[in-house]
Amino acid sequence: MRTVFWENNELKMIDQRILPARFEVLSYRGHKEVAHAITDMVVRGAPAIGAAAAFGLALAGFESASSSTSGLLADLQAASVTLKAARPTAVNLAWALDRVMAVVSTVGGERSADDLRQLVLDEAQKLADEDVEINKRMAEHGAALIDDGDTIIHHCNTGALATVDWGTALGVIRTAHEQGKKLHVFVDETRPRLQGARLTAWELEQYGIPYEIISDNTAGYFLKAGKVQKCFVGSDRTAANGDVANKIGTYMLALAAFDNGVPFYPVVPTSTVDLSLAHGDLIPIEERDPQEVLGLEFEGQRVAPKNAKARNIAFDVTPNRLVTGIVTENGVAYPPFEVSLKKMVLGK
Ligand code: MRU
Repeated sequence: MRTVFWENNELKMIDQRILPARFEVLSYRGHKEVAHAITDMVVRGAPAIGAAAAFGLALAGFESASSSTSGLLADLQAASVTLKAARPTAVNLAWALDRVMAVVSTVGGERSADDLRQLVLDEAQKLADEDVEINKRMAEHGAALIDDGDTIIHHCNTGALATVDWGTALGVIRTAHEQGKKLHVFVDETRPRLQGARLTAWELEQYGIPYEIISDNTAGYFLKAGKVQKCFVGSDRTAANGDVANKIGTYMLALAAFDNGVPFYPVVPTSTVDLSLAHGDLIPIEERDPQEVLGLEFEGQRVAPKNAKARNIAFDVTPNRLVTGIVTENGVAYPPFEVSLKKMVLGK
């Protein structure tokens, strides 16, 4: 089953907030509810929220009462603004919405409003289908970097759940496993929302890939002990120079990998590369509700004192000097990334 899919005129999404305890698929009929689901992380992971937003735009088309093309386009534009505001860091959100809007705006006046509604849905479906195909291509390039017997550190969740299907970094690991390579994965638990401990572990279990969950601060220990051969992570936005924004904690992992000479590979579909940003300091970084940090419990008790304050920065930026190579669907980019990434994205 896909993480995000269209069925019976509704958008369906696996509820990632409650996994692995419960598996539920939620249905959506309105774009505002989809925007809220993205903010609330029912759906999460850069490519998955891009696809969800594109289908959200399709819902906005069917919600619009406008019989004129211009009225419908205005409603779609307003919905696109609402959906874009749901989360700031993953560029796939804006990329997906801009892609669908560009298609409908180009043909705009030549088609009836109903034709345009269908066109939005068709483009969203196309984008979702392409995501799966792109991930599989990317996984082949990435799996070639993995040797039989490797132990890999993986951060956050980058699997089928973070995409429409298959996954980015976890997709690479999954493909290498299917190729018959014997692997072991250290799964960073990924505080505070525990995407690693909850979602990555759940996926690896289903794929039959051996893994152990480690607390985020354990990665340095195993890297220094020579127990890890490679790190694979995803990205929410990668700048033109190869600076990689990803789940908070990725930077510290990259530092420890670099210090110990362990290759560090972000797996990044070209839809996640933002060539308009020269470097990673320009990437907007989401700060979420401190409650996600303060709400953590230990032995059934809230950890923090009652009046404690917290900061909840959701992403950090790993500078390109710590990155060995960036795996894309068009191949692996190596330094200098200013040149190689552009080639991967634009083909020149
Ligand atoms: O806050 P999340 O869970 O949406 O963050 C997800 C990540 O950081 C992933 O590593 C990233 O989206 C790339 S993997 C598809």
